[in-house]
Amino acid sequence: MDKFFITGPKRLKGKIWVSGSKNAALPIIAATILSPGNHLIHGVPDLMDVKTMGRLLEYMGAEFSYENSTVNIDAGCLNRFEAPYELVRTMRASVLVLGPLLARHGRARVSLPGGCAIGARPINLHLSGLEKMGARITLHGGYVHASAKRLKGTDIYFDTPTVTGTENLMMAATLAEGITRLENAACEPEIRDLAGALTSMGALINGAGEGVIEIEGVRDLTPMVHKVIADRIEAATFLVAAGITGGDVTIRNARSEDLEAVIIKLRETGISISEDENGIRATGPERPLACDLRTLPYPGFPTDMQAQFMALMSVAAGTSVIRETIFENRFMHVAELRRMGADITVEGSTATVKGVKNLKGAPVMATDLRASASIVLAALAAEGETVIDRIYHIDRGYERIEAKLRSVGADIKRI
Ligand code: EPZ
Repeated sequence: MDKFFITGPKRLKGKIWVSGSKNAALPIIAATILSPGNHLIHGVPDLMDVKTMGRLLEYMGAEFSYENSTVNIDAGCLNRFEAPYELVRTMRASVLVLGPLLARHGRARVSLPGGCAIGARPINLHLSGLEKMGARITLHGGYVHASAKRLKGTDIYFDTPTVTGTENLMMAATLAEGITRLENAACEPEIRDLAGALTSMGALINGAGEGVIEIEGVRDLTPMVHKVIADRIEAATFLVAAGITGGDVTIRNARSEDLEAVIIKLRETGISISEDENGIRATGPERPLACDLRTLPYPGFPTDMQAQFMALMSVAAGTSVIRETIFENRFMHVAELRRMGADITVEGSTATVKGVKNLKGAPVMATDLRASASIVLAALAAEGETVIDRIYHIDRGYERIEAKLRSVGADIKRI
């Protein structure tokens, strides 16, 4: 099993190019189920999760190819309408085929995603929304069994804004009879990007990214040609890398409009952030300042940046209070940061981080995607060598991270 060997501290310097967004690419690939014909999706990151979504579509009978960040799919002749446990257990986002399968083929059998390191993550809001649209849904044998003649447009209010829930129902509504209104919908930039891809297929969607989305169903859609947005979480991770190493890094291809809450917080820590035609430039202070944080649905501070931000606060001057409000178990990185000398106490969904002057290299273990990014950042700033085990977690969401970090001066090896 691969490991990272990282020796620090090293001030990072230079330019990093950000890849396409994992969390935009996955629903957009699932959306190809909605229309026969050849779909072209550009700017897709070369990640394990993208491959898994491709295998899932192939399992259902689609033709899928990936080359040079471009996905080519023909979902014209599906012969299975099922997402098996073997695939879903490796990637929860597989549940995103449920809405499109039901809308286009009137039936779906999708494995319930099992437990997840960061929280229970139920899909009840996906299922109750589809039921409101007239789907018959039963759960047995660990599977969701869904069927519907033709889904019907209706008003759906989300008790809590759910990203993939909004995406699943938005896709399902594109071929439903009549108008669907999704209220208290998630507003993440990935939702807006999916709506853009669906609109390029002929869907009628208004309000994506604004909390209330209206979709007027149509009879048929046509294949898409779409370019996926840049990965805002990858971009933000590299901004923190500049800050935690006291470095000077410019992030190319990133969209600052998707990063407002992150940029505001990073500036509070003393990291200077500027933007020009070259990209977003982050210059780290001698030592970051402590500042409190609460994760929230977009446009609030993203939970997918909480762990990375905690790494930064672990070497800050002062004490920070970090509240995780989205997932109930998203502090798995705390124990690993403590192994590197961080001073963090956790009570329920609140972590108190007393900044220390220096972290020390140590053998540590990745537990989930963003937790592993957090310990990579800590290792870049730590004195000595850190060895990170189970880095397959990071490969799920960061394309060639070690090559990108090495290109700005990090001492990182994958063995
Ligand atoms: C998406 O997950 C992202 N994944 C996650 O990124 C991200 O952390 C999350 O949104 C929040 O921003 C993808 O886009 C593939 P939610 P999702 O449904 O859609 C509760 C990463 O690191 N909820 O918005 O699964 C849920 O338990 C990953 O890239 C219900 O109660 O998250 C959570 O507390 C990790 N019932 C809250 O809503 C439901 O039916 C938000 O979850 C659905 C969700």
